[in-house]
Amino acid sequence: KRLILIGPPGSGKGTQSPIIKDEFCLCHLATGDMLRAAVAAKTPLGIKAKEAMDKGELVSDDLVVGIIDEAMKKPSCQKGFILDGFPRTVVQAQKLDEMLEKQGVKVDKVLNFAIDDAILEERITGRWVHPSSGRTYHTKFAPPKVPGADDVTGEPLIQRKDDTAAVLKSRLEAFHRQTEPVIDYYSKKSIVAQLPAEKPPKQVTAEVQKVLSS
Ligand code: AP5
Ligand code: ZN
Ligand code: ZN
Repeated sequence: KRLILIGPPGSGKGTQSPIIKDEFCLCHLATGDMLRAAVAAKTPLGIKAKEAMDKGELVSDDLVVGIIDEAMKKPSCQKGFILDGFPRTVVQAQKLDEMLEKQGVKVDKVLNFAIDDAILEERITGRWVHPSSGRTYHTKFAPPKVPGADDVTGEPLIQRKDDTAAVLKSRLEAFHRQTEPVIDYYSKKSIVAQLPAEKPPKQVTAEVQKVLSS
């Protein structure tokens, strides 16, 4: 399957995608994770992306389309994929369609993580991440077995620099202004499925499975 996950910051995209990936054995591309890795490694891409990311603004379409174009060439992404955090503008969605047209394939489903903005601050400020795997935890909703450590590797967890209440405000603004039109773009193709993203993670997973098996 070829899937896109769309939702505001903290809606659960990163939490659900490893589960979907394990079940459907797909390639999982999260532009936010890829950009953070580039920032940490201080690559030319990372240096260009850092300022916008720190402010909670979107990185330029050219940069992210470039990363996705490159990553999609991997053999594991030829049969299917999950895109988490891409496309986030209508221009990005159009570029993706052009890329897929060349391969003669289409997006199958867009999962819309629908949730009220008011819930997101608590989710974002309580999040802890294992940077190398992208696994996420939450001090209240999904605590690690050992506080501050990843369940699988035991390595330390970190908090994202953009996970403050102040930066969340601009991330939400970017979502409503630039990313919601992407949901309309795919609604016109009748491939959007709504997920009740305010429910507990297991219930969201069950909904995801329902959508994907139908
Ligand atoms: P990105 O990394 O994509 O961040 P985001 O969209 O803001 O989304 P998050 O990762 O914050 O939320 P999530 O939905 O994955 O939530 P999670 O599952 O972790 O992008 C970061 C930046 O990169 C952007 O601001 C931009 O600058 C740049 N960028 C990236 N892609 C770009 C693009 N295409 N174009 C331009 N710029 C781009 O969950 C959050 C917390 O809640 C966790 O602690 C989790 O444990 C908990 N939780 C999850 N589900 C539940 C639940 N159901 N109930 C209770 N708690 C839950
Ligand atoms: Zn995420
Ligand atoms: Zn809105």
